[in-house]
Amino acid sequence: MAFKGLTRRQFAAIAGWSALGISAPLAGSRRAEAAASSGFPGGFLWGTATSAYQIEGAVHKDGRGASIWDRFAHTPGTISDRSNADTATDHFHLYREDVQLMKALGAKAYRFSIAWPRVFPEGGGSPNPKGLDFYHRLVDELLANGIQPFATLYHWDLPLALQDRFGGWTSRDTPKAFADYAAHVARHLSDRVKHFFTINECSRLVHLGHQYGADAPGLKLSQAGLNQVRHNVALGHGLAVQALRAHGRAGTMVGPAENAVSCIPAIETTENIRAAEVATRELNAGYLTVMLEGKYTDAFLTRAGNDAPKFTQEDLRIISSPIDFVGLNVYTPDHYVVAADNERGFTLAPFPASFPHMKASWLRPGPEAMYWVPRHVARLWNVKSIYITENGTSGSDQPAADGTVYDVDRIMYLRNYLTQLQRATSEGVPVLGYFLWSLMDNFEWSDGYEQRFGLYRVDFETKRRTPKLSVSFYRETIARNAVV
Ligand code: NOJ
Repeated sequence: MAFKGLTRRQFAAIAGWSALGISAPLAGSRRAEAAASSGFPGGFLWGTATSAYQIEGAVHKDGRGASIWDRFAHTPGTISDRSNADTATDHFHLYREDVQLMKALGAKAYRFSIAWPRVFPEGGGSPNPKGLDFYHRLVDELLANGIQPFATLYHWDLPLALQDRFGGWTSRDTPKAFADYAAHVARHLSDRVKHFFTINECSRLVHLGHQYGADAPGLKLSQAGLNQVRHNVALGHGLAVQALRAHGRAGTMVGPAENAVSCIPAIETTENIRAAEVATRELNAGYLTVMLEGKYTDAFLTRAGNDAPKFTQEDLRIISSPIDFVGLNVYTPDHYVVAADNERGFTLAPFPASFPHMKASWLRPGPEAMYWVPRHVARLWNVKSIYITENGTSGSDQPAADGTVYDVDRIMYLRNYLTQLQRATSEGVPVLGYFLWSLMDNFEWSDGYEQRFGLYRVDFETKRRTPKLSVSFYRETIARNAVV
């Protein structure tokens, strides 16, 4: 608002930017202001996101096999509130009601995940037709209500049999089994589901699941083991892309849903912006970079040294199979970047202890991540279609005396992030849609039910859903196609 009535040059002069060598074109508020009046592009797709294990419950229903998360959650000491997702929100039975919640928002898209162990209880071999039936019912219900289904194939619930048989993602057999599962899903669902995501957040599943042991399967591998898992996961992505192309109907589209390591220029100078791009490419070397370039960067291989993954040129070709879009989960800035005269060309500024966070201590609000992450991805790799596959925050979300959850912290967070997204789209960054995490409170992995991310509050005893104030915020945003 401080910009009102001034030209950019006038403001830059007052602000003393030119003296500091800071270019004004990225002056945020002015752009945000202009964008705010024009809103998001026509046809921008608004949706919500969830994942199977976090909401479905019914873990023994219709022949579903066990997943690594069933065992992990039932292992003492893994989940902070000692809970599990055996019943979760009971979406398996309440999906019709949940589709009505989406409809009430005016959302036109829904990102959900398919539980691999429902479809192949043993990970491979004979499929369980009843398992896929649930997704047939869900997809039909969505379409009947004017909501486009976007399906994620893997949101971390690996069939336990694959972990036990050959060590899950530590083995190249898992990417192969994943491709068979992807082919099966493509054959049965691609008549109605046009958009598929391969793997959700490769980097979290690699690090929290296999380095720190905080997520299933709870491993703490050596650096060499970890690098191999990372490679196998990327290979799984590539094989699944190929399987969807080979077995999906014409018009099937596919891409990853990645939580790219987000690198934000600490101050928007030309030098810092360039440094943040270099950092983005380097810090995502094992994920988006190899998927989009078909090679590991020299710096990545040098750093890995003898611990580098074993791979062939054919692997790299598979990993970089052409995709139709990039999905990005954007929550928090991972690094503020400052250009530096060192070998890497950048410094990652340490976070001061005073940096704020939302209810989850890892979730530092840095709305500008929502501008920079898609912009870097579009510029670095000439990506033409991007979806924000997740964004949102947890909150304490306690009902007030009148029974309403006034989650103004979530509204503040969303308003700021969406303003930055509006800035990106108004500058031509090709973001086609946005999926808010999450439709309703759910099982937040090792945080159990202590972190509530939903627009709708869930009473986990009765499974009753109640709209929080943020439902009104999101409904209004969707209706206006602009940040409210
Ligand atoms: C990303 C994950 O994909 C999702 O499962 C999780 O609940 C959210 N982040 C919030 O942590």
